[in-house]
Amino acid sequence: MPDIQKSSPEEILARINELGNEEEWFHCIDLGNGIFTMREPVKHLQTLWEILDKHIPLDLTGMSVLDIGCNAGFFSVAAKNRNAQYVLGIDTSPGYLRQAEFVRDVLRLNIDYRQMSVYELPVLEQQFDLVFCLGVIYHCSDPFLAAKNVLAATRDIAIIESAVMKHAENVNDRPLWEFVFPGYSHVHEERCYNWWFPNTQGLVALFRSAGFRSVEPIFESENRCCILCRV
Ligand SMILES: C[S@@+](CC[C@H](N)C(=O)[O-])C[C@H]1O[C@@H](n2cnc3c(N)ncnc32)[C@H](O)[C@@H]1O
Repeated sequence: MPDIQKSSPEEILARINELGNEEEWFHCIDLGNGIFTMREPVKHLQTLWEILDKHIPLDLTGMSVLDIGCNAGFFSVAAKNRNAQYVLGIDTSPGYLRQAEFVRDVLRLNIDYRQMSVYELPVLEQQFDLVFCLGVIYHCSDPFLAAKNVLAATRDIAIIESAVMKHAENVNDRPLWEFVFPGYSHVHEERCYNWWFPNTQGLVALFRSAGFRSVEPIFESENRCCILCRV
């Protein structure tokens, strides 16, 4: 493969297309020179970045960041751009990791990526000042084990974002998790690997039970929620 940093815009666009054939791009990342990894950003990701923007320090100098389910690395790049000392992104999908590595190389950022599941985190034997676990927990067949592993990898703060169960507004008096496997394939027969959808209280209860000292919701909408957990 040619050195991406010496590639022409046409070659970069061609590589974006190639990588999108393997796994459809989910992250819209600005690669400079008017080139983006996809045309339209996914709506909830814009909202999510606005939320995180308010809750993480503007300057992450000296801090380590773990991005679980990093996909093409939107949030890893954002952390590195805030001067994080060390950023590790993990994901189970080789295709998404190839996208993340391509983005990193085009942007000339120093970010580590590893093919690894949230279930394998203990092998790292490492803690991170800031942990992102965004859009991952409902893909986990064992959310409690995932939450315990997030705790074990967190030195200070973890931010967890999730889709929430449908009609959660009718059942907001108690923590709930809805088991959806083999899952909703909403409209099309598309790959679907959702296992559980919580309501916001359910997500809070899970991470409290896993052992976080404090857990507070920082965002709730009809279909997504986000919590901030402290060790
Ligand atoms: C809905 S995307 C969210 C991507 C990104 N975190 C975000 O919020 O935009 C879910 C990502 O989690 C990854 N994933 C799914 N199960 C995982 C697991 N057990 N461990 C780590 N990553 C996982 C998928 O490959 C995918 O990239």
